[in-house]
Parts: sequence; C-alpha cells; structure tokens
Amino acid sequence: MSYKVFDKEFLNSLGYQTPCYIYDTELLRDNLDIATKEFHHYFDIHSSIHYALKANDNAQVLAQIKQAGLGVDCVSGGEIEHAIACGFNPNDIVFAGVGKLDSEIILGLDVGIYAFICESLQEVMVINDLACGSNKHAKIMLRVNPDIDAKTHKHISTGTYDNKFGIAFDDLLDFIPSLDSLNNIELIGLHYHIGSQVMDMSVYAKLANVASFHYQILYKQGLKFSDIDLGGGLGVDYESPMTKPIANFGDYFSIIKQNLTIPYQLKIHFELGRSLVAQCGIMLSKVLYIKNTVGTKFAIIDAGMNDLMRPALYEAKHLIINLSTQNINETYHIVGPVCESTDIFAKNLSISELRRGDMVAILTSGAYGRVLANQYNRRAMIKEYMV
Ligand code: LLP
Repeated sequence: MSYKVFDKEFLNSLGYQTPCYIYDTELLRDNLDIATKEFHHYFDIHSSIHYALKANDNAQVLAQIKQAGLGVDCVSGGEIEHAIACGFNPNDIVFAGVGKLDSEIILGLDVGIYAFICESLQEVMVINDLACGSNKHAKIMLRVNPDIDAKTHKHISTGTYDNKFGIAFDDLLDFIPSLDSLNNIELIGLHYHIGSQVMDMSVYAKLANVASFHYQILYKQGLKFSDIDLGGGLGVDYESPMTKPIANFGDYFSIIKQNLTIPYQLKIHFELGRSLVAQCGIMLSKVLYIKNTVGTKFAIIDAGMNDLMRPALYEAKHLIINLSTQNINETYHIVGPVCESTDIFAKNLSISELRRGDMVAILTSGAYGRVLANQYNRRAMIKEYMV
C-alpha cells in the first residue's frame, strides 16, 4: 500500500502554501483499524482506548478517531470542550493533568465525564468539595508514579520519582483510608503513564507487572476497584516511516496482556496518542536559501521551530526528504528562519542536493506537531490539510 504522504508526485501537485501539515486519511484509518483489531484481540468489550487528544486535535482527525469507536483522554477544560464539540460522548472522556483548575473540574462534573485522574490527595479533596457543592458525584482514578524508567528522552519521561506526575504507591496506601469520608467521590481504579515514545517493550511488561502487584495489595486490603488505566506512550519509527507506517500495536497489547495478572472482568484503559496519528502527518516546506559558512552548508527552509517544535524541544530527528529533485546527495544543516540557534531540523543531513524553491517533506509529524505550533516571531499560524 503506498500512502499519499509518501508519494512525491502527489505531494508536489498539491500546490498548498508552505509550510503546512498534511494528514493522510487512509494511513490514519489503517493505524486505527489495526490498533482496534489488536486491542480487541487481547481485551474485552468493557475495556477501551482513550485517544490522547493532545497529540493532534484537528477536527477531521478527531472525527475519524471517533468513528473508530475510541474515547478521549483530555488534560484541560479546553480539550474537554473541543472533544464534546467534535461529537465525543462525555462518558467516554477521562480527564488527567497534574494541575486542574477549579473551573475545569466543575466543567468535568457538569458534563459528566467518565473519570478524573487524580495526582494528589489535595486534588481529590478539592474535587470532592466541588462535587459536593453542586450535588454531583465524581468517579476518580489515582495516578500512581511507579518509578519505572521508560527508557525514552528525559523530557518525555513521566514515571520516575524525579517527575512531577503521580503519587508514590506507599503514599497512596497511607491516604486511601481517608477517602472513605469523602462522600462525593468514588475511587474506581488506578492510573499509570510512564512516558512517551517508548520503544522498549520490556518497559510495558514491567508496567503491567507493577500494576498487577498494586492491584493485589489493595485487593488484600479489601479494596475492589473496577478499572486500571495504563496510559499511552507506544513509540513510532521516526527513522523509517515508509517501511513502518503502522506502530507495533500487536506486540504492545500482547505483552501487556501477558503480564497483567488481575481478574478478567476489570476494565483496562489505554491512552494512546502518538502511535495513532504520528505517521499519518507530514510537514511540507520549501527551501528559501542555501548558504555556505566556511565549509558548512545551510539549507534555510520556510518552516521554523515555531511550526514543529519537536527537534528543538526533545532533540527529535524526523526524516526529511527532497520532493523536488533527485540529484547526488550533499550534506546540509537544515534550519528554519526563526531567530534562535535551536531552530534546526537536522544537522549534517545527507540529502539529494537542495536548491531554492525545492519542496521538502518532514515526516512523522502528525503527533505533537501542529498542537505545539505557535506564532513566535509573529509568524503566521501553520495550516493543516487532510488528503
Ligand atoms: N496519557 C497521559 C497522561 C499523557 O500525559 C500522555 C502524553 C499520553 C497519555 C499520550 O502519550 P503518547 O501515546 O502520545 O506517547 N510532546 C512530546 C510528547 C509529550 C507526551 C505528553 N503526554 C513529544 O512530541 O514527543
């Protein structure tokens, strides 16, 4: 299957103003089909995938995700409102985040989301008070910090005690008895999210083992909850997107299933973001200038770090291809026009010789691309197109 986002001729024929994002409907659909098929192979109908909306909040992308039957994982009131405006059922929304505003909690209560993912005892108490004030009842999960190293970039690792996220399990054991007196909340389960762009599947075996161990300890103490949320984080192939356009959903769900030793009827939730949308998106950009500084060749393109922050923020390497010409390779630093030295997409990249006007594609940009874009230097907000 050849997808449109990898088809040079097609991309050249589009004629959209650059820079811009292009999302491939078919590739998104195939990712969703395979993810849901593998998920249902290992988990029953009570379990669910909540798409992490922060990865890509484009309304057309969300429409496809909704059609595939997924719920959503939101981290702000704005995301909850957007999800509902895009047709998601509030009961399919989980609301995570380490610093929820009172107004966001009230919104969640008013619309009736499935569950609040809580990150501290104080937050649980605030939710209880606000629920009490409006005569509502809130289902909550407690986010555990399991102190597991996700073996990913340090800026996208969330599951160790160095990180601000979650509650250490021992602390959680201490305060769980005090939840009995909070009449407007119901603890339905535990939540985990240890990091993003996780490629080492053994990390997920460990997570499933630790979550099962926690479940059993609480069960022995007489606490029987109904849900476990294992977060997201499954990584994608940034080096060879064309040969691996679909994430490894089969291995991911299978390894978690094999290592979960908990009762069958528990609802297992996942919050996949990147793995569902990263490969379906690319960024198109044009070469503005080529310049040579004492032996270093710079290709200055019309996309900047404000349009795609990942290289500047996480030292991310996205594959870049020359769509216009097929010449002998030359070596360049590919940089943007923003007045910052970190505005670099690639260093010492060997790529078919670039000339002014050539079009380049920056692949695997469908996740954490447009959502992180901004107008720094008063640049225009980058547009998105569905193909
Ligand atoms: N659940 C929670 C609670 C999260 O914080 C995240 C991502 C996810 C699920 C989804 O993770 P995913 O499946 O997409 O890995 N901007 C960074 C990634 C930040 C991830 C933030 N949290 C990047 O571009 O690499």
